[in-house]
Amino acid sequence: MAELSVRRADFLMALAYATDLATGHPRDFALRSCVLAMRFAEVACLDELTSRAVYHQALLRFIGCNADTHLLAAAWGDEITLRRELHHIDMGNRAEFVEIFVRAITRKFAGASPEELAEAVKGGLAEAPQVNIPILSGHCEVAQRIAERIGLPEEIRENLGQIYERWDGKGLPRGLSGNAVKFPVRLVTLAQDAIALTDHHGFETMKAMIAKRAGGGYEPELVDLFLTHAEKLLAGLDGPVDRETILALEPAPHSMLDEEACDEAYLAIADMIDMRMPFTFGHSRAVASLAHAAGKHLGLPASDIRDVRRAAYTHDIGELAVPVSTWMRAGPLTERETDAARLHPYHGERALASLGGDGKAVAALVQRHHERLDGSGYHRNSRGPDLSPAARVLAAAEAFQTAREARPYRPAMSDVAAAAKLRSAVREGRLCPDAVEAVLTCAGQPARRSAERLAGLTPREIEVLRLIAAGDTAKEAARKLDISPKTADNHIQSLYSKIGVTTRAGAALYALERGLVQQGISAA
Ligand SMILES: [Fe+2]
Repeated sequence: MAELSVRRADFLMALAYATDLATGHPRDFALRSCVLAMRFAEVACLDELTSRAVYHQALLRFIGCNADTHLLAAAWGDEITLRRELHHIDMGNRAEFVEIFVRAITRKFAGASPEELAEAVKGGLAEAPQVNIPILSGHCEVAQRIAERIGLPEEIRENLGQIYERWDGKGLPRGLSGNAVKFPVRLVTLAQDAIALTDHHGFETMKAMIAKRAGGGYEPELVDLFLTHAEKLLAGLDGPVDRETILALEPAPHSMLDEEACDEAYLAIADMIDMRMPFTFGHSRAVASLAHAAGKHLGLPASDIRDVRRAAYTHDIGELAVPVSTWMRAGPLTERETDAARLHPYHGERALASLGGDGKAVAALVQRHHERLDGSGYHRNSRGPDLSPAARVLAAAEAFQTAREARPYRPAMSDVAAAAKLRSAVREGRLCPDAVEAVLTCAGQPARRSAERLAGLTPREIEVLRLIAAGDTAKEAARKLDISPKTADNHIQSLYSKIGVTTRAGAALYALERGLVQQGISAA
């Protein structure tokens, strides 16, 4: 495999997209804030090192905010809506802060009696500091760890430990004030609030609100500088920002990742995704381990094995768009929640869209990880011909691993029960038999004989099927298998009957749907 050189900034954009979803920000919020912050850095005549810190702080500010989200959801309900409402207020203003949290509790206890609601509000507000402070401290720590794993230096990581701190000392978790809050933190906090306030209230009101907060949330000198140049700084930032713009803004030298560093970056994303809820801890790593092993077992090309491993690391990145309170529901989801949940492969592909080159293959696999051969999957209802061997392996690995993990609405299945569930999906034409058997073999489950897996075909009939599906005539197949043409004909008639087709094209499609005509896939 050729050594790749990938821009680290591409990973930063993937992380930025995912955290925008998870924190209730509109699409491209972090990218727009990055453009604004870098313009601001230029106006402020920052040196190259500080500009680099600003660039990374704008893209990565919220990468730790996925940790312990289940605790946030347990206390306040729909955490994405809560976070969205918090973006517009002055967090140092207790009245504004209390109003938003009362609203969250009211949403969570919808349907409760006025007395029950009053009790919940009283208890919730009293416990807010004990609930929120450890969670926010965790966000800072996790952000710094993820940044370290994607190779960022100390001067960038330390800013991620201060993401909720304020100029006036009323921030969290340490209550730092003035110059103790790092300069890139002060600048990016102001820039991101300016974007959020402009989106919510419009340009003029935003300026008035920023001015009012000078000396509170923001450093007065920075506010003056920002307001002097506000129009120029925000020009054209009301729409999407493309990848090339963000790549061009990265101060030189541009950071590149080699193959090993790329894998570590994908793995860091996996852990970030899985830290959201306790029952997904380690899920993406486990799916990747199974998919990688199954891909090798099937003899897939090295590049496919690499792509399926990386897709497995990131396959659920789009789940961040759906509130944890939905995933943690023990009861059935509403129709709207189901629709939102089934769109997570779409968001996953979008999140990874910034990854150029081979990243596109990874994104395509992520988009298909819940698709099924018969079109019964989601979100595009793709069918067999649109599902490559690697996609089939990922679907099988994901299905097996998920089945043997507990979910709030069901206990974990035993490995044996999970294997039976997957084989049932094979019989129903939803999962690829070869992919499933490879995954199960790699998971230590006893192998099934191929004849049982493929509609009762004998190994010789499978060989004939592979050859005619690949375009051979009966005569050519007979010659390659060293059997008589009449015997080959008999095998063809027998296998047609077993798989329920009457033509070579029908048999070819059957073989294609089961991965039998892909190079390196063995039916045995
Ligand atoms: Fe998924």
